[in-house]
Amino acid sequence: MTKGRASAPAKIILFGEHFVVYGNPAILATIDRRITVTAKKAKDGKVKIKSDIASGEFDGSTFRLIEGANARATLEPLYFAAKHSLDARKQKGGLEIEIKSDIPYGVGLGSSAASLVATIAAVESLLGRADKKKVCESAIEAEKIIHKNSSGADCYVSTFGGMINYSKGGGYKKIEAKGKLFLVIGDTGIKHNTGELVSSVRKLKEANQMAFSGMMSQAKDMCAQALTAIDNGNTDHLGMLMNESQLLLERLGVSHEKADELIEVAKSAGAVGAKITGAGGAAR
Ligand code: MEV
Repeated sequence: MTKGRASAPAKIILFGEHFVVYGNPAILATIDRRITVTAKKAKDGKVKIKSDIASGEFDGSTFRLIEGANARATLEPLYFAAKHSLDARKQKGGLEIEIKSDIPYGVGLGSSAASLVATIAAVESLLGRADKKKVCESAIEAEKIIHKNSSGADCYVSTFGGMINYSKGGGYKKIEAKGKLFLVIGDTGIKHNTGELVSSVRKLKEANQMAFSGMMSQAKDMCAQALTAIDNGNTDHLGMLMNESQLLLERLGVSHEKADELIEVAKSAGAVGAKITGAGGAAR
């Protein structure tokens, strides 16, 4: 094969973000925004990665910037994942990787997980065959470079698609909604840093073990109730659970005044519930 091509979707987290890092369940779903990656072999042994936000070339431990602020940090996880695929097949050659995305990045829609999943799947199909389980595992490993305590939830949903009930040790189960769930996704446009937000929650957990374990139980219970509400098509109850889940996320300190404003706008326009999705507000 001369070209490997793959795409992966963005995601939302309906319930359980942050708590999923500590073993709780979470409910996630993919949305119709995608990242598409094309991979070609290069003879020179270098790995060149081009995307809309950053481009550069890796030659062993040397990095040549082509363009983009923070390009090396943005591209490094993708490089390590691609290199892992090359090394696993004892391939000495290089790669040319091109990334096209219609997922807004850094706003909680899983753009980094989707870019890893699509890159690994494109490289794997270029070199042989892309096995979803292997793609997902490799994406989780690479995501740990971005934030070392990744739960793996974003990579799972982006690899396997649909709506899922995920937990760290327990893998995932597909969820079938009874009837249609209508969701509106708003973007505050404020960029966040997932790693810093996950660390800020860890600090809060370490400082307030008892309170945090109470929040874990509440979040777990909400997730179980949400599964039943989805199963029964009970959207009013689902909306109420979203509001409760938002209150917990506010207690974790991961909401943001702009997100709070959007939530109020959504509710006054008739939404049965509203919450942030993903890591949350801008890292402080
Ligand atoms: C980020 O999309 C979701 C978090 O729960 C982190 C994780 O699951 O690794 C905040």
